[in-house]
Amino acid sequence: MQTLSDPHRLHQLVRQWHQAGERVAFVPTMGNLHDGHIELVHQAHARADRVVTSIFVNPMQFGPGEDLDAYPRTLEADKQRLFDAGCDLLFTPETELLYPSGLNQQTFVEVPGLSDLHCGASRPGHFRGVATIVCKLFNLVQPDIACFGEKDYQQLAVLRAMVRDLNMPVEVIGIPTVREADGLAMSSRNGYLSEQERTVAPELKRTLDITAQALKALGVDTRAELEAQAEARLAKHGFKPDFIRICHGDTLAPAQPGDTRLVILAAAQLGRARLIDNLTVDLTE
Ligand code: PAJ
Repeated sequence: MQTLSDPHRLHQLVRQWHQAGERVAFVPTMGNLHDGHIELVHQAHARADRVVTSIFVNPMQFGPGEDLDAYPRTLEADKQRLFDAGCDLLFTPETELLYPSGLNQQTFVEVPGLSDLHCGASRPGHFRGVATIVCKLFNLVQPDIACFGEKDYQQLAVLRAMVRDLNMPVEVIGIPTVREADGLAMSSRNGYLSEQERTVAPELKRTLDITAQALKALGVDTRAELEAQAEARLAKHGFKPDFIRICHGDTLAPAQPGDTRLVILAAAQLGRARLIDNLTVDLTE
């Protein structure tokens, strides 16, 4: 596995692969890799001849007072994990390459509507930062396909909309969430949890499961009630819930009677960690 930060060498290599008729898959990350990230690399491998992973902690998607400086950086361990997973190329661009004039003089990509809901309302500018960096990385890597985790459900929806709206020649693939044995969705931010908080953290997924069961039994008409009950349950376990919302699976608008493909989106603070999770619910099943 090669590690490159030079965009010209990256471009040369990818061009060689494309000229040889090889299909190139891309897995963008912010590093501190866990089994969820590695699953994306495996799934990318299953669908392409070459896999490029990037590690870049993107300052544009962090708000003031968020954890940009504290975000865990574990490059050597990450390299080993990517090598073991059969990644062909690790791209580690420098901030100067991506934001040559700083963050305030930067052309950006904004997906309207979807970016303002849920996590976007709690973290203004976050999805602009995500869409902009992923667009830039797509331009640098020029992949045929790109894999993203369903764990970040709204991020995946925003990126699908960006690719569609801007006619980007990249196929976006969503990969199911990888979880710890007790149900907690794997996340680089789980490392912020104390031992005691770690024992409580799986209640987020349990709350989603309970809400999904109730939704199937009682129907979408009870949406507001179920959301309130779920938030109360999380608060009882020591979370500070940001939101639990029962939404249309594609538009992420509040679910309406008649909608069948739904998603329950959740975000809650537990100690220092902002945890997010989601569960899709098909009411036709
Ligand atoms: P990061 O949080 O490092 O996640 C990189 C990719 O791994 C994303 O597609 C994310 O959805 C996926 N992922 C994280 N946890 C997962 C899990 N438990 N199971 C499956 N997939 C998981 O998401 C970002 O970085 C950034 O916003 C990025 C897209 C790289 C842009 O900066």
